[in-house]
Amino acid sequence: MKNELLKRLFEAKGEPVSGQEIADQFGLSRTAIWKYVKELESEGYEVGTVRKKGYYLITAPDRVDEVNIHKHLTANRYGKTIRYFDTCSSTQIIAHEEAQSGVPDGTVIIADEQTTGRGRMLRPWSSVAGKGIWMSVIARPTLTPQQAPQLTLVAAVAIIRAIEDLTGIEAAIKWPNDILVDGKKITGILTELQADPDQVKAIIIGIGMNVNQEAADFPEELHAIATSLKMLTGKSVDRAQLVAKILGFLELYTDIYVKNGFSPIKLLWEGYSNTTGRRIRAVMLNETIEGVALGISDEGVLQLKLDDGSIRGIYSADIEIPN
Ligand code: BTN
Repeated sequence: MKNELLKRLFEAKGEPVSGQEIADQFGLSRTAIWKYVKELESEGYEVGTVRKKGYYLITAPDRVDEVNIHKHLTANRYGKTIRYFDTCSSTQIIAHEEAQSGVPDGTVIIADEQTTGRGRMLRPWSSVAGKGIWMSVIARPTLTPQQAPQLTLVAAVAIIRAIEDLTGIEAAIKWPNDILVDGKKITGILTELQADPDQVKAIIIGIGMNVNQEAADFPEELHAIATSLKMLTGKSVDRAQLVAKILGFLELYTDIYVKNGFSPIKLLWEGYSNTTGRRIRAVMLNETIEGVALGISDEGVLQLKLDDGSIRGIYSADIEIPN
């Protein structure tokens, strides 16, 4: 009911909404509606009252909940179902459980804060309250498990487009899944798979984006390597609007990939890559090699030309740019 009231306040765009009418419609008392208004105020919404006319919305807090995201959502499937948490361990963990229970394609698990956010290779992921986008999208595209890793690259392109659209910032991709601005990380993507031998059941696309942090919000060890949209532009960004944009582009590019194959995505991805044509170092579990990054194959595998002229496909590595 509280969400319904909030939806109506948003839809009214600052005009008063009659408490009596809503009360009648839902078989509630006016006092019950008033209590919901008080609850909204305790969550940071500013609600005004006009005598005999009702309640109107003055300001809304920057919350990444369903109502705020749906205000901006243009996607058809992605983000239609949203589970929001003020705080949780990791949206990735919850998304895995939800995927197993059969939630629809495009379901989003999102949190204002994660207490044990995780990155690639089980590294911790700093996810402070109220500042970033910490979400996991449960995608169910018709793909084989072999095609699933490319979805990380699809997601990277979608995120770059969303950032550019909303802030004008031109970010770059460091293979496979880091989004950087001025060499500092702004977003990480963690793609995980639930699959049968020949078919994907769900791909969990975990997105961690630094949005409204100040430098002091990052742990000391990240100061030299991480940044946020606010640190770059000096302005706060509406996180819910950005989430809606990401979901729109993610749905668009996932559908293009499923229908037309990886080539169109590959073209876009290579245009945004900051490694193509540069000398890089690939740090893998058992070895470290250097060479010139030629681009990615149709399977999304990084092609590295070594000094002896041979070409190596890199499936998983940390990429460094040597001085
Ligand atoms: C990386 O290592 O660069 C990937 C970071 C992915 C972080 C996101 S935040 C939302 C989701 N939940 C998690 O615990 N991790 C991913």
